[in-house]
Amino acid sequence: MPKISYVNGSFLNHENAYIHIDDRGYQFADGVYEVVLAKNNILIDWDLHCARLRRSLSEMRISYAFDDNSLLATVRELIDKNSLDDASIYIQITRGVAPRAHNFPKGNVTPSVVMTAAAPVFPTNLEYKNGVSVITMPDIRWKMRHIKTISLLPNILAKQLASEQNAAEAVLIEDSGLITEASSSNFFIFDRSGVLRTHPLNNLILWGITMHGVLKVARRAGFKVEESAFTLSELMESRGSFLSSTTKHILPVTKVNGVQIGGGEVCHEIQELMKLYKNYVEKQLS
Ligand code: PDD
Repeated sequence: MPKISYVNGSFLNHENAYIHIDDRGYQFADGVYEVVLAKNNILIDWDLHCARLRRSLSEMRISYAFDDNSLLATVRELIDKNSLDDASIYIQITRGVAPRAHNFPKGNVTPSVVMTAAAPVFPTNLEYKNGVSVITMPDIRWKMRHIKTISLLPNILAKQLASEQNAAEAVLIEDSGLITEASSSNFFIFDRSGVLRTHPLNNLILWGITMHGVLKVARRAGFKVEESAFTLSELMESRGSFLSSTTKHILPVTKVNGVQIGGGEVCHEIQELMKLYKNYVEKQLS
């Protein structure tokens, strides 16, 4: 639970950290966000998160100019005020407060900026070792999923359904039959021929920062990598699959819709990739 949170330039006790009910984030989910991991007070892949935040703001036509280093200084202050070394940082920027009307407010409305810092909650060691279960569901989201918008209704419904079925995630499938990603993670397989595959970077998925790191280390290590979408039957026949996100890193999946995949074991390729990704993160700490 955060102790101190940031609201529009002020550090406040978390219990008193409020935004006006006319905020467009509250009214319309008219805003964007980032989740960044801090380890030993170092923000992992900070530049990539800033670049994505800038892209999301620009796609949403929210005018909020920020300097990566000043924002970093504020985030570090927030971590410090919460007496954390490792933290999960949530940054949210909405179009601002204005009387409710669908069109953008006229004039210069200042975007609302809030940030929280909490101790990160990672999957358990057992989950990393044995893999987790996922369910699959139709992907009913809008078609601009590369924008990290706070409008997450289909994602939360999917995640809730997954947890009600004791699954760690809901993997989402387009009408075309191709898997896109999961409700709050990207999704990969090592296919039958050992090729590492994930959905191409287009408007149908969020361009995960962890995904970027995973693809980078995999290519560097000589894995065969293809940004090509796959179907549920390719997933079921795969050597193994995994989720990736800032708050999971690489999390193996060994059961899909109650059926074991890859013999129910985490394949050696995924184990290797987990080590490589760990090194990639640790390198940033030195
Ligand atoms: N979610 N896809 C979706 C739909 C996501 O919400 C996320 C991250 C990812 C992975 O992105 P990254 O590697 O940059 O974390 C993919 C964050 C963690 C969240 O909403 O809490």
